[in-house]
Amino acid sequence: MERENVTILDHPLIQHKISMLRDERTGTNEFRKLVEEIATLMGFEALRDLPLEDVEVKTPIETCMTPMIAGKKLAVVPILRAGLGMVNGILTLVPSAKVGHIGLCRNEETHEPEEYYCKLPHPIDQRTIVVVDPMLATGGSAIAAVDFIKARGGKNIKFMCIIAAPEGVERLMEAHPDIHLYVGHLDRCLNENAYIMPGLGDAGDRIFGTK
Ligand code: PRP
Ligand code: URA
Repeated sequence: MERENVTILDHPLIQHKISMLRDERTGTNEFRKLVEEIATLMGFEALRDLPLEDVEVKTPIETCMTPMIAGKKLAVVPILRAGLGMVNGILTLVPSAKVGHIGLCRNEETHEPEEYYCKLPHPIDQRTIVVVDPMLATGGSAIAAVDFIKARGGKNIKFMCIIAAPEGVERLMEAHPDIHLYVGHLDRCLNENAYIMPGLGDAGDRIFGTK
């Protein structure tokens, strides 16, 4: 799967932490911490093209022009619920980022996403938008989330997921070839219930300790 705007982030630290996430013995507390840490590590790479502007700074030696992140231009948009687990990981890097929310839930029979909430920072069209969700399975939720953001004017969209299935990557990039997708690990395939194999199970349940 070679696509210019799909980046697989195969850093050893990310891979190690994903393996810990997969382990069924990893409890809620540790799982949450790992999701947040992985989001920070992935965000470091996904945000490498954030726009900079030169600002004047007076050092103890002299005044100089030196680059800083330009304006309050970033929006982090988690897909509820599981995406919430990644938000603080990105805010660690850019504390001034605004946060939007998109509520989607997969119908357990059809596996199609159903919307229940959408609130985005205004104006959305001038921001770099990082959509976060740990799992990209069939791609239905990701496609719907990007549809909502575009319908509200969002343009510069990055999508960050920790684990993806090849089917979901293909569907998402066919539907939205203009976005950039960052993946922690590309897994083998989906099972008959549209769960990622080997995956990590239900990300939302593991983050929030439900089921
Ligand atoms: C999970 C996951 C994604 C979606 C991926 O959420 O967090 O949003 O499934 O599946 P897809 O690519 O086939 O759409 P889920 O719908 O289980 O909701 P939850 O986060 O509230 O548990
Ligand atoms: N959602 C999850 O949380 N896990 C999967 O494997 C697929 C969808």
